[in-house]
Amino acid sequence: MAEAKVNGSLAVPNVQALAETCNGPDEQIPQRYVRTEASSGEVISNCHDNVAAPIIDLNKLLAAQSSEEECVKLRSACQNLGLFQLINHGVPDEVIGNFKRDIVEFFSQPLDAKKEYSQLPNNLEGYGQVFVVSEDQKLDWGDMMYLTVHPSDLRDLRFWPTYPASFRQSIDAYSSETKGLARCILEFMVKAIGAEPELLLGIFEEQARGMRMNYYPPCKQADKVLGLSPHTDATGLTLLLQVNDVQGLQIKKDGKWFSVNALNDALIVNIGDTLEVLSNGKFRSVEHRAVIHPNKERISVALFHYPCENLVLSPLPEFVEDGKVHYRSMRYQDFLKQMLTAQLDGKNRLEKLKLEQ
Ligand code: OGA
Ligand code: NI
Repeated sequence: MAEAKVNGSLAVPNVQALAETCNGPDEQIPQRYVRTEASSGEVISNCHDNVAAPIIDLNKLLAAQSSEEECVKLRSACQNLGLFQLINHGVPDEVIGNFKRDIVEFFSQPLDAKKEYSQLPNNLEGYGQVFVVSEDQKLDWGDMMYLTVHPSDLRDLRFWPTYPASFRQSIDAYSSETKGLARCILEFMVKAIGAEPELLLGIFEEQARGMRMNYYPPCKQADKVLGLSPHTDATGLTLLLQVNDVQGLQIKKDGKWFSVNALNDALIVNIGDTLEVLSNGKFRSVEHRAVIHPNKERISVALFHYPCENLVLSPLPEFVEDGKVHYRSMRYQDFLKQMLTAQLDGKNRLEKLKLEQ
């Protein structure tokens, strides 16, 4: 079995191109994409009150008279689900509109044009796929484009598309307009559970941010494939933007999958493993996956917020009650390496850090 390099992934076929050849009436999808788990088990959709993705209004959090009530909703979302959708988030419509338009345009180019930005060996940035570590592993029905967007001196412009002409500018604008947002949300989250935010905020202050654009082609046998395998995000907060109006995100709660009905104007906020460990389990990192539409493409962008590089992942003292530490310590870099050199595996990586009580 071939080993993935520490920071790279084995090369896999381009799924957008593959979808064009195997979506004909008589074609079958290759076995490597057929996933029995995709259609096994019930998926709960159309649930009332958006139980799988509660709506949190940033304006209400910010206004003195409504803040307390909104914080109660926020606390419940962070403790029970690990995901919510944020409305009135303050990122200008124009910035989001330009960014979405350019992403759609980028992916609609011929394969050769996109391949100019292909990942290079031992490098996660660029166009391709991640988390592929063995030649016989099942594959996800999707392509990705990953860029480090912050700090700006770590941007590797070799991978920053020059078409459409405004793309670099629209990525930059989206990145700067969301810059303060994760900090602001995190501050409310910590206050909502009655703790002091300084220590936790300090761990993410001015740290790296990475952007993953996910392209999920349609598949006529959509119930046999998965766009993105079940996983939790290893980092702090993730802001997820659904680029076109095709739904596909699902979260797991109490052993069941729930579809997320993403609102057009919302940003989806995911809690990652780092926040679960630092908060000693007060925040829940959410297991999620992406499914595929039978005849429409789906595009999303995940913006990951990394903690400081030399972090030792361990519950912060202020979240430890009665001496009960729920997670063992591990260097964050080792944790991340574990994630990037293995197949996505639901919430198992985090479960291994949990201490028996
Ligand atoms: C991710 C992710 C979900 C989606 O990129 O980590 O979970 O809906 N994406 O594309
Ligand atoms: Ni994710």
